[in-house]
Amino acid sequence: MRGSPQDGFAARAPSLPVELSAAAGRPWRSPAQRTGEDPVQKRPRVVVSVEASVDGKVALTRNALLMHQPSTELWASMTPESSDSVAIDVTELVKQQYGCNAILEGSGSLVSEDAIPSELPTYDGDPDTLYEHFLPAEVIEQRTPLHMWFTIVDSRGRVRWTERHENWDALVLVARSTPADYLSYLRRERICYLVVGEERVDLNRAVAAMGTELGITCVLSNAGGGLNGALLRAGLIDELHLTLAPALIGGLGTPSVMDGSPLSVGEAPTRLELLSAQTDAGGAVRLHYAVRQS
Ligand SMILES: NC(=O)c1ccc[n+]([C@@H]2O[C@H](COP(=O)([O-])OP(=O)(O)OC[C@H]3O[C@@H](n4cnc5c(N)ncnc54)[C@H](OP(=O)(O)O)[C@@H]3O)[C@@H](O)[C@H]2O)c1
Repeated sequence: MRGSPQDGFAARAPSLPVELSAAAGRPWRSPAQRTGEDPVQKRPRVVVSVEASVDGKVALTRNALLMHQPSTELWASMTPESSDSVAIDVTELVKQQYGCNAILEGSGSLVSEDAIPSELPTYDGDPDTLYEHFLPAEVIEQRTPLHMWFTIVDSRGRVRWTERHENWDALVLVARSTPADYLSYLRRERICYLVVGEERVDLNRAVAAMGTELGITCVLSNAGGGLNGALLRAGLIDELHLTLAPALIGGLGTPSVMDGSPLSVGEAPTRLELLSAQTDAGGAVRLHYAVRQS
């Protein structure tokens, strides 16, 4: 199976008019920033945007990607059309609000767990030369009005990049465990990558490096529950846009809004502050939260 990253993104990012609610229109500031204690943003802001059923599922079943039929159509059918639809283009919103210049997805959005990616030529050079950031000048020096990075976490080297998009550049987050054949493939394809982690991608290092190496100021995660759950556990989520479709999916193991490792006994959940809530006649609900700083 060959992933088509840009298609995957487009399938969940309809170009709808941007609708700024009163709360969403204001630049978000953490509680500490509001009291003037911590005005310095040390890493790129991370905003998560997810569509889910009312029971919090983000897919119909595991290993049936939303970018593939019949899931795409079934997923769309969960939200009845409505003249006062609450759907918005969150990418446009965070671009306007924060100058957001990177989309983040996990490899699980593009390649199902049971897929066997096509084989790559064996790399027979010195592997050490591959395990440093690859940021070719001809890619990173182009600065269209707002340069966007389509970023994928892929320590196992599973995504094959079969398409180019004129308004986006691909950025892959890899680790020292990523196969050399894959890094060599990315270099041949002139696809940028950051080596951030040992066994797998260290998300704190990754987000920080996106800021320091590429000047990224805000990351919009359009990921599934695996990556969003890992971002949550890493304490990286600043905001959540959650759109609920009026449907129930059920099913233990079906990806949900936040998967990843469970809380330890006695560990507190992450508290949220509601910034806006909207409903439409079709039964969809759009919620916008900020993560409370502990
Ligand atoms: N409804 C929606 O809005 C929405 C949005 C996106 C996706 N989806 C659906 O959700 C499903 C995919 O969800 P998923 O949970 O299977 O995939 P996923 O969110 O892509 O999660 C897997 C990714 O997260 C990375 N990851 C997981 N834990 C990590 C950790 N502790 N540290 C670093 N990286 C970590 C994995 O990295 P490595 O593989 O590199 O280890 C992998 O790239 C698909 O069916 C897709 O269609 C729905």
